[in-house]
Amino acid sequence: MRVGLIGSGNMARAIARGWSDPVLCTDSGSGRAEALVDELGGDVADSNVALAEEADLVVLCHKPAQLEAVAAEIAGRAKAVASVLGATPIAALQAAYPDTPVFRLMPNTPVEVRRGIVCMAVGPGVERDLEHKVDALFARLGQVVRIDEKLLDVATGVMGVGPAYAALVVEAQVDAAVRLGLPAAQAAELASETLAGTAALLAARDYDTLAVRREVTSPGGSTARGLAALEAGGLRSAFQDAIDAVLGGARR
Ligand SMILES: NC(=O)c1ccc[n+]([C@@H]2O[C@H](COP(=O)([O-])OP(=O)(O)OC[C@H]3O[C@@H](n4cnc5c(N)ncnc54)[C@H](OP(=O)(O)O)[C@@H]3O)[C@@H](O)[C@H]2O)c1
Repeated sequence: MRVGLIGSGNMARAIARGWSDPVLCTDSGSGRAEALVDELGGDVADSNVALAEEADLVVLCHKPAQLEAVAAEIAGRAKAVASVLGATPIAALQAAYPDTPVFRLMPNTPVEVRRGIVCMAVGPGVERDLEHKVDALFARLGQVVRIDEKLLDVATGVMGVGPAYAALVVEAQVDAAVRLGLPAAQAAELASETLAGTAALLAARDYDTLAVRREVTSPGGSTARGLAALEAGGLRSAFQDAIDAVLGGARR
């Protein structure tokens, strides 16, 4: 299946690097499409129209605000459309691309290293064969998770923004450790690999967060003191506020 990426920014680059195939892509003049082709091979299409005519699947990797403008160019030409646009429902994709199979996807940036999550909701009337092909294509980037479209924005508040949260948690731990003398690079490696290892352990424990926490937390011990300090610092309510902020922004 020939895939074309409209937009060559952060998300398109992460997806293309994950696939590591020669790309077919466009941008709006920044030169980022050329840079992606320099890195991975392939072609910058002469226009969005040329891309849509060549591709079997057009992946929309521009910003949500550009939905109508891009659709005005390529609707009727794109054979199938997969959108990674945040907060853009299937109904909006169908309105922009009538009579075209549409997929609503929400990937996160670890797709670049094939450890991503790609949440997927499929538009009505999409043929099974195409659905399987799109599923298999994105499964090369990590885990494809089918999700009720009504919950896709909430899922985004966990997995779409999650890499930024995880990076901030590592950064905060590094700052704390540096203050007490650990070299920054070493602290970053320790914190990052602990996150990765804990993710694997959580998967092995059926994502039972309490079990994993209890295994580290002796009564009255150092981890218990650390966790109490994080709770007193408002960690849980900060995450509540964060997801509200993410979803509030999405609705605007
Ligand atoms: N970043 C993430 O972690 C993430 C996660 C999930 C979903 N998303 C979604 O992915 C989409 C892109 O986000 P991003 O972070 O990659 O943004 P970005 O870095 O700003 O990239 C947007 C790309 O779209 C291109 N573009 C804009 N108008 C265009 C047009 N008319 N024709 C062709 N290309 C056009 C831009 O071209 P120029 O390079 O010329 O400016 C740029 O390459 C958004 O809809 C976002 O909701 C992002």
